[in-house]
Amino acid sequence: MGGLLMLRVAVGICCVTFGASAWSVNNFLITGPKAYLTYTTSVALGAQSGIEECKFQFAWERWNCPENALQLSTHNRLRSATRETSFIHAISSAGVMYTITKNCSMGDFENCGCDESKNGKTGGHGWIWGGCSDNVEFGERISKLFVDSLEKGKDARALMNLHNNRAGRLAVRATMKRTCKCHGISGSCSIQTCWLQLANFRELGNYLKAKYERALKIEMDKRQLRAGNSAEGHWVPTEAFLPSAEAELIFLEESPDYCTRNSSLGIYGTEGRECLQNSRNTSRWEQCSCGRLCTECGLQVEERRTEAISSCNCKFQWCCTVKCDQCRHVVSKYYCTRSPGSAWSWGKGSA
Ligand SMILES: *[C@@H]1O[C@H](CO)[C@@H](O)[C@H](O)[C@H]1NC(C)=O
Ligand SMILES: *[C@@H]1O[C@H](CO)[C@@H](O)[C@H](O)[C@H]1NC(C)=O
Ligand SMILES: *[C@@H]1O[C@H](CO)[C@@H](O)[C@H](O)[C@H]1NC(C)=O
Repeated sequence: MGGLLMLRVAVGICCVTFGASAWSVNNFLITGPKAYLTYTTSVALGAQSGIEECKFQFAWERWNCPENALQLSTHNRLRSATRETSFIHAISSAGVMYTITKNCSMGDFENCGCDESKNGKTGGHGWIWGGCSDNVEFGERISKLFVDSLEKGKDARALMNLHNNRAGRLAVRATMKRTCKCHGISGSCSIQTCWLQLANFRELGNYLKAKYERALKIEMDKRQLRAGNSAEGHWVPTEAFLPSAEAELIFLEESPDYCTRNSSLGIYGTEGRECLQNSRNTSRWEQCSCGRLCTECGLQVEERRTEAISSCNCKFQWCCTVKCDQCRHVVSKYYCTRSPGSAWSWGKGSA
């Protein structure tokens, strides 16, 4: 394990793209001992889980984590350095660390396992360390090795990406939880053993989404700004380098207008997107999605109704079956459109 970081890993050809369904292992061209192949599948799975979380967190936002934004290299054509870029880097890097760490605890790899270094020591009043603490250090090292090596450049953009990769990994640590088990005479809990466990991945996603919302903009060198490409400018030391900002997401450029389609920027626009309205189950943020995606973008909200069939009036019958009726009901969905057209498109839903 000692020589692990010494091995050379050549990653990518020019850019690594997350495919629609999986971050293909083929995107990593691994040289060096086969040892690394052990991790590639898990690294890919981890990055993929990060991307799925990104899609979940941004499902009802104007920018909804589209496939074309998921290029983790500084060398791709759409070289954005926005707040959204910062989230993609943080969540991917966190996803890789998370998955590798879980793999270690599950005993999937020969050379890592639980962190039992503190076991037996007193942790605090009434509890001692024990059990299987998730070994984040190993996961952190593998994530750094694979994800950070995608940054070849030394410009501000590359530094930004590295910073956000690291912020993602810090988030994995920051959301860990102490979990305890009671001991003592007949469950009196006079003594507990505790271990540190990863939060569930959704919590990590929520945590990074909050970081995204208060991400810090880094001001660039003025001369470089005038030269045109802000993200290629010199890095001006700012608050981002204070220790208090190391866990924050940072970005260099303001986000473009995600309302309107702009193919040269790779932006789809919100026309045709679904939004949520009048459904009881949703959060306030989701309830506002029709405003955010449609009306505030100059589009209209169109209701489309479909008929769905589902089981209803189910009765238990002696003995032992359940009999149900098939009920038809109307399901409304809402979409952003430029002009309200065929608002009544009846289709057959499924049960
Ligand atoms: C790592 O964990 C993932 C699920 O979290 C699993 O699918 C994968 O097979 C594991 N990797 C190895 C090498 O066992
Ligand atoms: C797309 O964005 C670029 C850069 O901001 C801008 O110059 C261009 O006018 C936009 N195109 C459209 C069709 O909005
Ligand atoms: C309603 O909320 C519950 C719990 O939060 C969730 O499991 C379920 O999928 C939601 N249903 C819909 C239609 O969103």
